[in-house]
Amino acid sequence: MAVTAKVQERVDALRELLHHHAHRYYVLDEPEIPDAEYDKLFRELQDLEARHPELLTPGSPTQRVGAKPLEGFTKVRHKVPMLSIRTETDIEASGARSFDARVRRELGLAESAPPIEYVAELKFDGLALNLRYENGVLVQAATRGDGEIGEEVTQNIRTIGQIPLRLPKDAPPVLEVRGEVYIRRDDFEKLNEQQREKIAKGAKGEKTFVNPRNAAAGAVRQLDPGIARQRPLSFFAYGWGEVSAPEQGGPAFTTHFEMLLTLRSWGFPVSTRTQVATGSEELVAFHQAVGKERDSLPFDIDGVVYKVNSLALQKQLGFVSREPRWAVAHKYPAQEQITTVESIDVYVGRTGKLTPVARLAPVFVGGVTVTNATLHNEDEARRKDVRVGDTVIVRRAGDVIPEVVAVVPEKRVHEAQLFTMPRKCPVCGSEAVREEGEADYRCTGGLFCGAQRKQAILHFAQRRAMDIEGLGEKLVDQMVEGNVIKTLPDLYRLGLSALCSLDRMAEKSAQNVLAALEKSKHTTLPRFLFGLGIRHVGEATAKDLARHFGQLDAIMDASVERLLEVPDVGPVVAESIHKFFQQPHNREVVVQLRACGLTWEEGEPAARAPKPLAGKTVVLTGTLPTLSRDEAKDMLEAAGAKVAGSVSKKTDYVVAGAEAGSKLDKARELGVAVLDEEGLKGLLDGGA
Ligand code: IVH
Repeated sequence: MAVTAKVQERVDALRELLHHHAHRYYVLDEPEIPDAEYDKLFRELQDLEARHPELLTPGSPTQRVGAKPLEGFTKVRHKVPMLSIRTETDIEASGARSFDARVRRELGLAESAPPIEYVAELKFDGLALNLRYENGVLVQAATRGDGEIGEEVTQNIRTIGQIPLRLPKDAPPVLEVRGEVYIRRDDFEKLNEQQREKIAKGAKGEKTFVNPRNAAAGAVRQLDPGIARQRPLSFFAYGWGEVSAPEQGGPAFTTHFEMLLTLRSWGFPVSTRTQVATGSEELVAFHQAVGKERDSLPFDIDGVVYKVNSLALQKQLGFVSREPRWAVAHKYPAQEQITTVESIDVYVGRTGKLTPVARLAPVFVGGVTVTNATLHNEDEARRKDVRVGDTVIVRRAGDVIPEVVAVVPEKRVHEAQLFTMPRKCPVCGSEAVREEGEADYRCTGGLFCGAQRKQAILHFAQRRAMDIEGLGEKLVDQMVEGNVIKTLPDLYRLGLSALCSLDRMAEKSAQNVLAALEKSKHTTLPRFLFGLGIRHVGEATAKDLARHFGQLDAIMDASVERLLEVPDVGPVVAESIHKFFQQPHNREVVVQLRACGLTWEEGEPAARAPKPLAGKTVVLTGTLPTLSRDEAKDMLEAAGAKVAGSVSKKTDYVVAGAEAGSKLDKARELGVAVLDEEGLKGLLDGGA
């Protein structure tokens, strides 16, 4: 086929792109595109060059392993080139089978010949390193660079605790160990957390890292070893370079696995997942098993590696261009991909939490097609500065919700608006608020908000609230999805026929539900208040509120200041209660529930009730004959007393029960009045 101008043009374009991205990746440690995207461009070029060999030039990116080293590091020529491995990107088992078939063919083995022994390893997602030891001392650490010439990073590498600086006596005079520097996932999270803190404090030139590999690469190639030392680097050995021959005191070994065990005995970390696998089926099994473990491993891997175990066979197989014929990388589906943001929507969760979500052009990542990715919250969305139309890197690892990792700034086509969180709930239109010190906005619509409906009903019906027996999750799901109920009052308007129309609802059970609803109508103010699901209002606060105000209307109309007078109600809680009852929909729900016949006993506001113990401090100790500690505390507080945990000169009374200890001694020492349960009751009746 004649080389058309079009092919030449594409080849040129691909080379330019690949040079650019290789530089970003290998030299600047700031890739703009995910590996999978790079691999795709690389394969396209390889394909074109294979079909048109006349276009092949020595300078083509396909002819080099990495990129030129960074200016500023001493260059190191590797004694034995650091090669790269051929990648089988197939997701299926065929990757292992075609490798095995190729090896057998190249070795000229008959079909009947016994299976080949391999070593199956993890493909760590970090940075390759060559460690050179002379007479048992680490003398040099170098990156791979372009495979021939790397960079000397010994100072930085010395800071990695897992890398031995000295070797045992039986180590050979010359030993080069090869392996991967990486950052564990938990260490990575901590590191980024620290980076965010630095940025928040206004530190210049700091950034968060896109993934552990970039963070590791950045640390290794950090010109200031002081900074490298602060980065939590780890290391795994998986191979070697120059090693003294046995006659020069080197180890005599015949397999790859034997050598790895030897390296381990000399103090190098070798992954315990590394194993011998015989024949293609054991490779397939390894690939599958590791695939399942991938997400729970403490570090990132992007595939597995198969290596022919026998060194003699490795030698026989040799190399093709820069890749050994005896090893292959079998990758898993990429967990990062590139796509574009079509819009940014806000999703309202069951608890009213608002989450910005990027709607994406569909992309296959982590084994599934992804169309949405979370931006977590407003701060995250702004920090990453994700805008509509942007090209972004999306990540999906395992069952984790896909997230936007970063924007590719170079690909921003037009200046879209910076994302801002809406101040109104997109589902119900209620006010959305972000409390101080919290990252999330929440809808204040509560009972009214469609997104929160199921949760709100279940909360209302639970035993500790309205105690509506039989109103469980499945039933509520059905009722909400079938639009049988929209708001809480609808519950009390349910008829037998509506209930019976639901799936698997026999008349008998429907009648039971109606009876339970009827029974729940007679309740208490604390139960009702708790059931409304006001944020921060748990059972205890509901009781405090009921006790303090006595009546629901007083609570609904209370200002923040008045709410703050309630014991144990602080500014956040007061604000939340106030906001809730300010929403007309929430007030309407209360009105309608009352109209449906919900009743409870209302009381005197505590402020007007007599407070015989106002201003008094009481300490409880030991076990009282009939009252529990909580009951006694509740009664004392209702009477206006402050219940303290320790006895001091300021204590007015100590109420002591059986087995009272040091508090009683202290009371006697200080001359504080000591009461028993009878005395306490007298005190509460106003007979101090
Ligand atoms: S062996 C001759 N084994 O993958 C074979 N490489 O292109 C040389 N890698 O950057 C490599 N885990 O850093 C080998 N278990 C493993 C590996 C591994 C990760 C990296 C290596 C290199 C790339 C191979």
